[in-house]
Amino acid sequence: MELRDRICVVTGGASGIGQALCRRFAAEGARTVVIVDKDADGALATADAVGTQGTALTADVTVEADIEAVVERTEAEIGPIDLFASNAGILGFGGIEAPDSVWESVWSVNVLAHLYAARAMIPLMLERGGGYLLSTASAAGLLSQPGDAPYSVTKHAAVALAEWLAITYGDLGIKVSCVCPMAVNTAMLRGGAGPAAQDTGGSEGSGASRPETQAAAVAGILSPERVADSVVAGIRDERFELDRGELDVERHDGGGLQIELGNGIERQRLHITQLAAA
Ligand SMILES: NC(=O)c1ccc[n+]([C@@H]2O[C@H](COP(=O)([O-])OP(=O)(O)OC[C@H]3O[C@@H](n4cnc5c(N)ncnc54)[C@H](O)[C@@H]3O)[C@@H](O)[C@H]2O)c1
Repeated sequence: MELRDRICVVTGGASGIGQALCRRFAAEGARTVVIVDKDADGALATADAVGTQGTALTADVTVEADIEAVVERTEAEIGPIDLFASNAGILGFGGIEAPDSVWESVWSVNVLAHLYAARAMIPLMLERGGGYLLSTASAAGLLSQPGDAPYSVTKHAAVALAEWLAITYGDLGIKVSCVCPMAVNTAMLRGGAGPAAQDTGGSEGSGASRPETQAAAVAGILSPERVADSVVAGIRDERFELDRGELDVERHDGGGLQIELGNGIERQRLHITQLAAA
């Protein structure tokens, strides 16, 4: 899909990867970029940077009514949403000892918010015969690595949800892409503490202990702009998995994906439909 003249919504647009996506979508000629974030000032700052194509909305993506309101308001005041990017995400530090409150808050932002966006958008997109859902997961959603279990597990779930949506609605015109970068130079990587970190007193993890930071030691740190470049190229080609950093991916005859990390870890992924056919 080309982004020219499209109406795009980006959650987590106040900072980091989301902010870079907003700027890049505008540079590609998007008609309007709706910057959604719970950080109202940050969303306004991104809208200012985007210029006349940018508009800011304050919302908490873990509240389904907030996502519904974003969709309803955008469709009523601007027009039909062509692309909804579920990008907002938070860290979740710790292992099995991490309290339920951490698991629940990370699950809400990293997974349920993507579900709420799909629930709000898919009926509208089906009615008009197409649309695009973008999901920011992570390389931590493709490869299990030591460290923050709530983050890694919820990112695996985000990839799974995106795959399920792609398989279920792809033939009905709804395109899905899932962004899976390794370490990206944003507030999150620099040790930014999300609510989950505060729940654990901020003592159980830091940017340095995160899977993506450990991976960066192998593969280097990406800039948010580099991720946005790769996302735009992937949307243009309508590819499912975007930006695996240095992950080396080959398509195999069976249609599955062989994903290799530079340090020798590898994992085979097969889509459910392909497994069923095997
Ligand atoms: N930085 C990395 O190394 C990296 C790597 C791979 C994937 N990711 C993913 O990329 C996405 C963006 O992360 P980033 O690195 O740009 O982080 P960031 O902290 O710079 O930006 C995240 C944004 O999400 C917003 N947000 C958080 N919770 C919200 C909520 N409940 N409602 C509305 N907005 C909310 C924050 O206010 C912030 O503006 C996340 O999903 C993250 O997991 C990050």
